[in-house]
Amino acid sequence: KDQQQADLLKLYADSAKMYQHILVNTELGEPALKYLHERGLDDETIKTFGIGYAPANQLLLDFFKEHQTDYQLLRQSGLFIENQAGDLRDRFVDRVLFPIKDASGRVIAFSGRILKKSPNEPKYLNSPETKLFNKRSVLFNFDLARGPIRQQKSVVLFEGFMDVIAAYRSGIQNGVASMGTSLTDEQIYMLERVTDTLYVCYDSDMPGQKATDRALKLLGGNSRLNLGVIQMPDGMDPDEYLRAQGQEKFVQVFEDGKQTPTAFEMQYLKHDLNLQNTPDQLTYLQAVLQQLAQLSSSVEQDLYLNQLVAEFDLDKDDLKQQLRSLVGQQA
Ligand code: GTP
Ligand code: MN
Ligand code: MN
Ligand code: MN
Ligand code: MN
Repeated sequence: KDQQQADLLKLYADSAKMYQHILVNTELGEPALKYLHERGLDDETIKTFGIGYAPANQLLLDFFKEHQTDYQLLRQSGLFIENQAGDLRDRFVDRVLFPIKDASGRVIAFSGRILKKSPNEPKYLNSPETKLFNKRSVLFNFDLARGPIRQQKSVVLFEGFMDVIAAYRSGIQNGVASMGTSLTDEQIYMLERVTDTLYVCYDSDMPGQKATDRALKLLGGNSRLNLGVIQMPDGMDPDEYLRAQGQEKFVQVFEDGKQTPTAFEMQYLKHDLNLQNTPDQLTYLQAVLQQLAQLSSSVEQDLYLNQLVAEFDLDKDDLKQQLRSLVGQQA
């Protein structure tokens, strides 16, 4: 069993090497290399993350056949798709490949991005789960980020691989991403062991905000981490914002743009309300007060009450009284 594990690891290491070789050194890789350069990745970043390219033909299968690699091992690897007759073909075809690594930096899976938008194919294609790869317990870039997370005493959780990479090359190296799914308890546990502060920095479009709201609720209930939120302006994801505004402004968001979860919620709760209308105003105030009732710090409550007073021209004592009655209900 340990032997099988070692064989799989070797297979993934060889595949990653092969795919990167194709990207960096061959004519086949040119379109993909151009794509990555156009997205702002230089050769050093490509090396750091071990990015590769799976060309349009059956390259990997031929390579391993030539080396007489065991058929059962190939079957179990998840690197190939098997038809009814038991024939294998490459799973990753014409995609840029991001190696997924375990905490010690060993390649255990790939996520492949399509070069051009296609209506029939997913933008990202992940390896299936294998003996090596359990996506619930993997965080992209955890191997490289662990040191910086400890140093900076915080971790930044991104939505996408490209966001982690964008931040990394801007000097924000304590970033990780879950595997395109919502955060899991296993991932929270991994992070709790190395830090006590987590910033959620998902895309600031509506799906990203929804996912942020969900992540905050999960983290609030299941972890002891101190939480914060960082949102790029104008509905962008971090990678887009870096490309649009440059490194200085990008880094500035991480320095000046930290929000408490409550500040995020107070903005997020507005998303499907029309605050021109009084019923919606009341709904909003009620929802915010519910949130504030859960805070343990009266100073923090006071801060947001002041904001409501200013925004809705309200009497602070009335708000306070309402808040107290909500706190009473919870106790
Ligand atoms: P880019 O377009 O390359 O910048 O990707 P992105 O990271 O901005 O993608 P998006 O915000 O749409 O999605 C965030 C993350 O969800 C991605 O990094 C992937 O991990 C995952 N994801 C997105 N699209 C797909 C998909 O079609 N299939 C799967 N399995 N995961 C996806
Ligand atoms: Mn997104
Ligand atoms: Mn999207
Ligand atoms: Mn995105
Ligand atoms: Mn993106």
